[in-house]
Amino acid sequence: MLGIETSCDETAAAVVAGGRVLSSVVSSQIRLHRRYRGVVPELASRAHLQKIASVVGRALADAGMDRADAVAFTAGPGLVGSLLVGKVAAETLARLWRCPIIGVNHLEGHIVAAELLPPGGEGAPGRMRYPLLALIVSGGHTDLVLSVRPGRYRVLGRTRDDAAGEAFDKIARMLGLGYPGGPVIDRLAAAGRAEAAPFPRPLLPGSWDFSFSGLKTAVHYRLRDEGTPDRRRVADLCAGLSEAVADTLVRKTADAAKRFRVRGLILGGGVAANAVLRRKFLALEHLGYQVAVPHLSLCTDNGAMIAHAAGRMLALARPSARRALAALPGKGSPRRLRPDPALALRSWR
Ligand code: KG4
Ligand code: ZN
Repeated sequence: MLGIETSCDETAAAVVAGGRVLSSVVSSQIRLHRRYRGVVPELASRAHLQKIASVVGRALADAGMDRADAVAFTAGPGLVGSLLVGKVAAETLARLWRCPIIGVNHLEGHIVAAELLPPGGEGAPGRMRYPLLALIVSGGHTDLVLSVRPGRYRVLGRTRDDAAGEAFDKIARMLGLGYPGGPVIDRLAAAGRAEAAPFPRPLLPGSWDFSFSGLKTAVHYRLRDEGTPDRRRVADLCAGLSEAVADTLVRKTADAAKRFRVRGLILGGGVAANAVLRRKFLALEHLGYQVAVPHLSLCTDNGAMIAHAAGRMLALARPSARRALAALPGKGSPRRLRPDPALALRSWR
């Protein structure tokens, strides 16, 4: 399965077979957007257009292939112009190869990323236990999602304002740390003392929702009262922030896991790369859950998670859809495989 991901600011393609990543190529546009301190949609789609052919070509070459059996692309959510580039590329290849094409929800990609065996990884790809609770934390989302069986999802809670990654990005900007802020805050936090800069935990009792915009205000007042922070103070602030965000996310996940009696816990999205969050999330294993976090290379946007979500979808699809894949190579136009309506992530569309 070839997976193409172009929903935001990474042009990505990967080849995945049975949960194993055979190749994964990510061309980041961070340098392009850095001077604007955020993603500029028009520049993003243009850059995707310039890069997509070489990124796909390299993913196929790295996997030692000149074609794939099926093509998956991110159908949404994301920037409309950027998504379109991936979709057209996938449709072109599906037409050329006369193979099935599958549209994938970006968030389902992040959910299943933790199951993937990275390139060169040893052992078998992961298999999650159900019911499953997924925490997706990225630049655009902070979602707590319950999955009672593969392919079925219910969003329990989401952010009411800033997503966790967005909060990191905005606070990093206030601290003059550049864009994207999440990785910088993560790196500096390792040298800081969280207890020297405590921040509130926005727990919103009685709801599964999150709210991280108050952290910006807290940082604003600290900077106003304390003046410009030196390097040590910045490190302490980063440590305090990482601790507060990770603690809030993990505590709510633990509460929901208990309430909905899940067996598996899975972490996904760009912020899943955060060291404090990974440590705290993995510690939930002590409560008896099966816990999975994605390989560091598969936390931020990539094509492998899209290919894997499509592969899983295909395994769950109706027999007629599976036969379409088995009948390859076929004639005529490509068969577009949509997820079974029952599997659609309606609340995310
Ligand atoms: O999943 P992703 O690549 O794109 C979206 O779908 O949004 O996530 C990007 C987000 C950014 O906000 C970035 O600051 C954050 O993930 N991020 C991190 C780390 N690496 C990326 N946040 C905290 N710690 C990190 N190590
Ligand atoms: Zn993402």
